[in-house]
Amino acid sequence: MSAPGTSAATSSNHYKLSPGEIHVWWASVESCATHLDKLENLLDTDDLRRVNRIRVERPRLQNLLAHGAVRMLLGDYTGLDPLAIRFSFGERGRPFLAPKDGVPPVDFNLSHSGDLVVFALSVSGPIGIDLETKREAPSAVKLAKRFFSPNEHAYIEALPVEDRAASFLHCWTCKEALLKATGEGLAGGGLRRVEVIPDPTQPPQVVRIGESSASALGWHLYRLKLPVSATCTVASRNAASQIKILNLTDRLEGPLQPASLA
Ligand SMILES: CC(C)(COP(=O)(O)OP(=O)(O)OC[C@H]1O[C@@H](n2cnc3c(N)ncnc32)[C@H](O)[C@@H]1OP(=O)(O)O)[C@@H](O)C(=O)NCCC(=O)NCCS
Repeated sequence: MSAPGTSAATSSNHYKLSPGEIHVWWASVESCATHLDKLENLLDTDDLRRVNRIRVERPRLQNLLAHGAVRMLLGDYTGLDPLAIRFSFGERGRPFLAPKDGVPPVDFNLSHSGDLVVFALSVSGPIGIDLETKREAPSAVKLAKRFFSPNEHAYIEALPVEDRAASFLHCWTCKEALLKATGEGLAGGGLRRVEVIPDPTQPPQVVRIGESSASALGWHLYRLKLPVSATCTVASRNAASQIKILNLTDRLEGPLQPASLA
């Protein structure tokens, strides 16, 4: 499978997703600090309760950014008022845009790590994203033994010590992105059930899900080069024709409502 075109874009009006296109928005709490008050106005009472339960400032602001921005972005792509957006949840807590007549079936997923939040959006079936800002993984072999497949563990253990973290973080984000696309999440041994190619220099690929390599067919993984230091992988049920990487800070300079409601 060839890699899709990946482009970094910053100008406005990227809010239409063609089939096969994936948009990934990235943001940091620091770069969005001056916009957080605006985003807080988009939160409903449940969102606010969840945010305000977090006592430590950095994760609280990160949560506020994630939940305010996801409403703003879903508003942009659907034309809905961000405050009127309703979510439904899968059995393991995966959030979906609640279906509504006349509204495009935008699937989304988000991930936060450190100061960063990323959002992936698609109209071509389920999508998952995972972000990891750690560069080190001192317990890579121990964690791989506990959570990864025997093949992945053996691969990481055989690497020189200095190469282990890259392979571990690559495997982790590939598996978690996939498990977030399916909605299964990490509970119940998902990380072990999914096997990926553990070599971070190869194009990411799902080798098998459960016992069957056939079940991996149709799932696609894409390693993203964000303009910040992080390991980030997107999983998509369908092949991506293009992945656009967009900076949320630019979007936040404009009004929070979609243009159609302004
Ligand atoms: C869902 C899960 C995969 C997210 O993992 P994470 O690394 O903490 O978080 P990320 O930042 O990548 O993603 C979080 C977002 O994913 C989304 N999400 C929640 N449940 C999800 C699911 N089942 N599938 C897909 N996405 C999910 C939400 O938008 C969430 O954001 P929120 O926490 O602000 O509401 C994880 O919480 C999980 O499955 N937990 C189970 C706990 C567990 O078994 N832990 C064992 C550790 S090995």
